[in-house]
Amino acid sequence: MQTKIKKQLIAAALTARQHAVAPYSKFQVGAALLTHAGEIVLGANVESASYGLTCCAERVALFKALTDGKSGFSAIAVVARAPKGPTPCGACRQLLAEYAPNATVFVADSAKPERVRTFKVSKLLPEAFRSVPKSRDGT
Ligand code: THU
Repeated sequence: MQTKIKKQLIAAALTARQHAVAPYSKFQVGAALLTHAGEIVLGANVESASYGLTCCAERVALFKALTDGKSGFSAIAVVARAPKGPTPCGACRQLLAEYAPNATVFVADSAKPERVRTFKVSKLLPEAFRSVPKSRDGT
């Protein structure tokens, strides 16, 4: 993937991070999802007082894009104040494996956004569960 797009996505994720709603952990995460059509969809983490209802930045970006009718994603950038950048949690890996299986994942520490690590969704969650088998008769 081109350096220009990578930089653009990381910059977009930094912007998205400004809207994180993380009053409990104070860990603000931003994500920027790139569609095949070249659109960038932003997301940030949103926390709940019940903790368990918290939604990660990656899933917020993905859900926003999908419910706006967008599909086909080539990359996602994720940034937070974390050494080496935040790698997506297991739940986000599952959703990415289902809806962005061929995407590239860029992660960076928001304090050092020029240092980007690159992964593939397929490598972050090998042998992912992708769909419920069609013929199910209860046996
Ligand atoms: N979080 C994300 O948004 N993305 C990640 O990749 C890791 C974790 C959020 C969830 C929660 O709001 C906070 O970071 C602490 O776990």
